[in-house]
Amino acid sequence: MPDPAIVLSDVDLSLGSGAARVHILKRLSFAVEAGSSVGIVGPSGSGKSTLLMVLAGLERVDDGTVTVGGERLDRMDEDALARFRGRSVGIIFQSFHLMPTMTALENVAVPLELSGRRDAFERAEAELKAVGLSHRLHHHPAELSGGEQQRVAIARALAPEPSILIADEPTGNLDADTGRDIVRLMFEARARRGATLLLVTHDRTLAAACDRRIVMRSGEIVEDVVAETLS
Ligand SMILES: Nc1ncnc2c1ncn2[C@@H]1O[C@H](COP(=O)(O)OP(=O)(O)OP(=O)(O)O)[C@@H](O)[C@H]1O
Ligand SMILES: [Mg+2]
Repeated sequence: MPDPAIVLSDVDLSLGSGAARVHILKRLSFAVEAGSSVGIVGPSGSGKSTLLMVLAGLERVDDGTVTVGGERLDRMDEDALARFRGRSVGIIFQSFHLMPTMTALENVAVPLELSGRRDAFERAEAELKAVGLSHRLHHHPAELSGGEQQRVAIARALAPEPSILIADEPTGNLDADTGRDIVRLMFEARARRGATLLLVTHDRTLAAACDRRIVMRSGEIVEDVVAETLS
């Protein structure tokens, strides 16, 4: 693999305390080629979301190394991790996670502004236009449909031009047609920018649209298939 965007090596992670402690990721190792798309599937509770949180720098590992975009996340302090998150990863969740008190434009622009971009509002407007929302800039999330809210979330994730795009069941709360639109948008945006995409999904068709499919079970990778052989 010429240029891996992500390298995980022997990653171990448990969460919770006492009797509620759960061993979630078990000596997980894999590498992802820059610019590729990876679909992650597996039963509920197999550790898919936790894995994404690790890659996004939102969850620390107990053991092993996590290298994303050439940076060792396991060695970073909280400030460095926060900077990494603002700069290098875009995250899209199933439930959109928009700020209810902010307009669509503010939801995209304010994080950019906080990271020091002077052109935050211009950039946010351009990103919202790119996802077909130029007519909804001043709407609040409650005034938008689910598909529109997810478009705002995609614009927000893409605005800092991250090299890694992470999506956790991005179509889980949408009807099939809207879900397809959202997926098309995500894949187009990824291709245009050459970003690496990691996508957790219960949808086999969606997983098959990726260059590679990883199947997790009980915190381990039990199957890892590249596109040529995907059925
Ligand atoms: N903070 C936590 N403390 C204790 N256990 C946790 C914590 N977070 C997650 N878990 C447990 O870790 C396991 C993996 O959770 P995770 O959310 O990664 O699964 P998942 O594969 O994304 O599942 P789903 O498909 O339902 O979203 C689950 O059994 C969950 O209960
Ligand atoms: Mg999950």
